[in-house]
Amino acid sequence: MTVLVTGGAGFIGSNFIFYWMENHPEDKVVCLDKLTYAGNLSTLKAVMDKPNFQFAKGDICDKERVFDLFRAEHPEVVVNFAAETHVDRSIDGPSVFLQTNLFGTATLLEACREFGVGRYHQVSTDEVYGDLPLERPDLFFTEETPLYTSSPYSASKAGADLMVQAYHKTFGVQATISRCSNNYGPYQFPEKLIPLMVLNALQDKPLPVYGEGINIRDWLYVKDHCRAIELILQKGKPGEIYNVGGHNERRNIDVVRLVCTELRKPESLITYVADRKGHDRRYAIDPEKIHKELGWLPETNFEDGMKRTIRWYAENREWWEGIVSGEYQEYYKKMYGSR
Ligand code: NAD
Ligand code: DAU
Repeated sequence: MTVLVTGGAGFIGSNFIFYWMENHPEDKVVCLDKLTYAGNLSTLKAVMDKPNFQFAKGDICDKERVFDLFRAEHPEVVVNFAAETHVDRSIDGPSVFLQTNLFGTATLLEACREFGVGRYHQVSTDEVYGDLPLERPDLFFTEETPLYTSSPYSASKAGADLMVQAYHKTFGVQATISRCSNNYGPYQFPEKLIPLMVLNALQDKPLPVYGEGINIRDWLYVKDHCRAIELILQKGKPGEIYNVGGHNERRNIDVVRLVCTELRKPESLITYVADRKGHDRRYAIDPEKIHKELGWLPETNFEDGMKRTIRWYAENREWWEGIVSGEYQEYYKKMYGSR
């Protein structure tokens, strides 16, 4: 079987490719990626020369490129990770988020319809549900929670989800959607909280916590997310949405303190900076459905996953030193310079 993975040069997509190729060596994996600032070909070094892997550079919004690839490769399964993913960048410039996340998803769906692809899976996010109040720890996002987005990023992802449902209902595209909580692990671009704090701490730089650091995120080790997607592809029902999360809520400040402890760095590196506009207070997934219907449970606890992740960044400097030396410097200055 041929599996097309879009956005596979990014964080979760690359981890999914490694996971899939290890567990399904009989399959061919084709990765379509535009290689934006967030995509890194060196991430895929370990699989690049394998006979059952192929990398194709391209934009999911480019209909001709996408259709040519489907015509040539006949994928039976398409898993869409390709997206603009950083909330702060979406506040700074929303239009590319609309383009890739909404129009790009629609282009892939159109190709699935045209070529009769057996299964399309949309990798979505818990951010489509908006946020939960800090003082109501009893509330969780279920698959029935209404979409109520905060940022241009989450709005574009919610729009994409609706497009997937429309293609399923109207054209019969065999599509599933997963909405996962915050991931962490190796190969995450260092604009996101955990790798940013780990890299700054390793370099004895300030650790910029937004607001009071009391916002809550529900963290999941990336491999557990990959396994959830595998189960949805194998046993999930087309037309269905599956929430993915492991009941692992942490305040941002506690995550940053843990990074300091693990790296034996002083907490005096922590600096409180201006809050994110429209900052979602709390995300918390109710994973009952995927647990009951597909038997999924996370396998990595947060402390172990964090130890493994922090060690990975400490031991793979060549991976991130290339990234933080380029355009990232400009980005960092713009986002944090006068914050
Ligand atoms: P990422 O930013 O690390 O990687 C995105 C990848 O998509 C990059 O390789 C980039 O080059 C590629 N890409 C961007 N625009 C493209 C385009 N127009 N055409 C082709 N490729 C393009 O993202 P990530 O954190 O790995 O997230 C992957 C998916 O998972 C996204 O859809 C995101 O919304 C979703 N998600 C992420 C998280 C998280 O915590 N990171 C949690 C839940 C869901
Ligand atoms: O919930 C899933 C989502 O998680 C994904 O859909 C997104 O693609 C992914 O980026 C992530 O969104 P967040 O906004 O939650 O992630 P981020 O790492 O940007 O921020 C996590 C929290 O940490 C958030 O409350 C903001 C805060 N933060 C972030 C950065 C980068 C800081 O306090 N300081 C920082 O420098």
